[in-house]
Amino acid sequence: DRSPKIAPSILSADFANFGAEIRAVEDQGADWVHVDVMDGHFVPNITFGAVAAAAFRPHIRTVMDVHLMVARPDDWIADFARAGADVITVHPESGPHIHRTLQSIRKAGAKAGLALNPGTGLDGVQWLLDDIDLICVMSVNPGFGGQSFIPAALPRIAALRAMIGDRPIHIEVDGGVVPDNAGAIIAAGADVLVAGSAVFKGGSTAAPEVYGRNIAAL
Ligand code: DX5
Ligand code: ZN
Repeated sequence: DRSPKIAPSILSADFANFGAEIRAVEDQGADWVHVDVMDGHFVPNITFGAVAAAAFRPHIRTVMDVHLMVARPDDWIADFARAGADVITVHPESGPHIHRTLQSIRKAGAKAGLALNPGTGLDGVQWLLDDIDLICVMSVNPGFGGQSFIPAALPRIAALRAMIGDRPIHIEVDGGVVPDNAGAIIAAGADVLVAGSAVFKGGSTAAPEVYGRNIAAL
């Protein structure tokens, strides 16, 4: 299904109220929930691990989309699959054998995602197309919410869309997605829009309709 989907990143949610924040964005139309896992090694920030993901799971009625920004992701794939991740996305720079890592995600029962940093070449992707369910085009350098969109992501999305052809692979875009660029991102060929600060800004768990307005604007 290539219709546009919004995946709010709970990296920008209230960290003391994840259950209520997830409920609020889903009630307001979120299609997936994006969980940014950072380990302080692959990226200069630390967020949450598989124990936290397992705690989020019963609150997520839609899709739990886990983005692993960690060194040695192979050590954690089984744990996140057991925590109930529907999608597990990894970066090729984070381990020596991306093909094997992607295979182990599927073996663990999740959909396999490949995340491409803004400076990562697209050349190797063609050899992985049979082993992935999603490509995450990073439109910021990973590590933090609230950064601005790198416009070079747009031709990268279009090139990947052409490369994918009619294979059932999602193109997700992650970083700096705001109402002003969402249309161009979808037109370039993406179908999953991750949005952290754009969804959660100005909101609070007491005012879920704020999230609804933000989601509707994307
Ligand atoms: C960046 C994360 C993103 C981030 C997006 O490292 O992978 O998912 O939460 O946040 P915004 O939408 O604020 O750029
Ligand atoms: Zn992410």
